[in-house]
Amino acid sequence: MAGRTMHAVQYDGYGGGAAGLKHVEIQVPSPKKDEVLLRVEAASINQIDWKIQKGVMRPLMPPKFPFVPVTDVAGEVVEVGPGVHSFKPGDKVVSMLNFRNAGGLAEYAVASVNITVDRPPEVSAAEGASLPIAALTALQALRDGGTKFDGTGQPGNVLITAASSGVGSFAVQLAKLGNLHVTATCGARNVDLVKRLGADEVLDYKTPEGKSLSSPSGRKYDVVIHCTVGISWSTFEPNLAANGVVINLTPTPWTWFHSVVKRLTFAKKKLVPLLIFVHDKEDLRFLVQLVRDGKVTTVVDSRHQLSEAAAAWAKSMEGHATGKIIVEMGGEEAMAPVVAG
Ligand SMILES: NC(=O)c1ccc[n+]([C@@H]2O[C@H](COP(=O)([O-])OP(=O)(O)OC[C@H]3O[C@@H](n4cnc5c(N)ncnc54)[C@H](OP(=O)(O)O)[C@@H]3O)[C@@H](O)[C@H]2O)c1
Repeated sequence: MAGRTMHAVQYDGYGGGAAGLKHVEIQVPSPKKDEVLLRVEAASINQIDWKIQKGVMRPLMPPKFPFVPVTDVAGEVVEVGPGVHSFKPGDKVVSMLNFRNAGGLAEYAVASVNITVDRPPEVSAAEGASLPIAALTALQALRDGGTKFDGTGQPGNVLITAASSGVGSFAVQLAKLGNLHVTATCGARNVDLVKRLGADEVLDYKTPEGKSLSSPSGRKYDVVIHCTVGISWSTFEPNLAANGVVINLTPTPWTWFHSVVKRLTFAKKKLVPLLIFVHDKEDLRFLVQLVRDGKVTTVVDSRHQLSEAAAAWAKSMEGHATGKIIVEMGGEEAMAPVVAG
């Protein structure tokens, strides 16, 4: 598709939020040796997308401007690079684009085969695009906390904070598959939803009980999957089992320091900061299969057309999404590439 152009959404520099996004016509990228070119059907926005725009990873990311953001996509293969034998045009897939190149807010994007998996017909593009960062992070965090997903897991107690978030909504469902008793926190409006996802007990985070994090049934937590900010160790500590561990998905420098101190002092209760930049293809395949089999479902906060990308971006930045924010690229006709010049 060399020489053709496509519609994309990009930003030209750090900052600017949703107002910094611009709609442009740019060249359709070409797949390199181990890449496929996708016609993007859906993408999902994660907090890291707008945090990169804010400059939290400068000067590494983005490596240059202008930059087309968003990594999590589902689509159809339209072209394969010369080294690709595992996919062919017409294959439906889910992929996580490289952070440094990104490119998800566009009609076409190149994806590495290393983190691209087949998408069966039972899994919609929106469901597929919802998975990469959010569900893979939830899966890895639970695994790091000792959860097993092959039926050999021991029963245990997990606390999931911000269970209505993209990551948290997957974490609740995966924790149940891992044979855990789930205590969850979320806002009052989402208590019923989080119970339907499988949580055994739910605390409204704005109430005194929610602020204390204490389990209504008196349990002590073996693992905490901490999906939000602003909760101190002194709140977690009395709620942990003797060897309990807090997996902190939004670590600050203080979290890293505190975790090292705990290791050096052989503390039994542990704090583990977790930032994941490289994800595993087999894990993504596993999650797609769970969705296909109806064992995990995507909570969709809202769906937006690419023309409304700014609204989707602003929604994510507000921090009150319930589940995933999806951007859809429209029907086949709307996506026909435009010949340059
Ligand atoms: N470590 C990693 O590699 C990694 C990867 C992905 C994400 N993350 C982090 O994980 C966190 C979740 O990400 P996400 O994209 O899933 O977030 P998100 O969907 O944007 O989260 C929004 C949700 O969180 C709820 N929430 C906010 N503060 C809360 C609190 N104090 N207690 C309970 N619920 C609260 C909100 O509920 P209300 O609307 O009711 O307030 C809303 O439903 C973020 O901090 C993100 O940066 C880390």
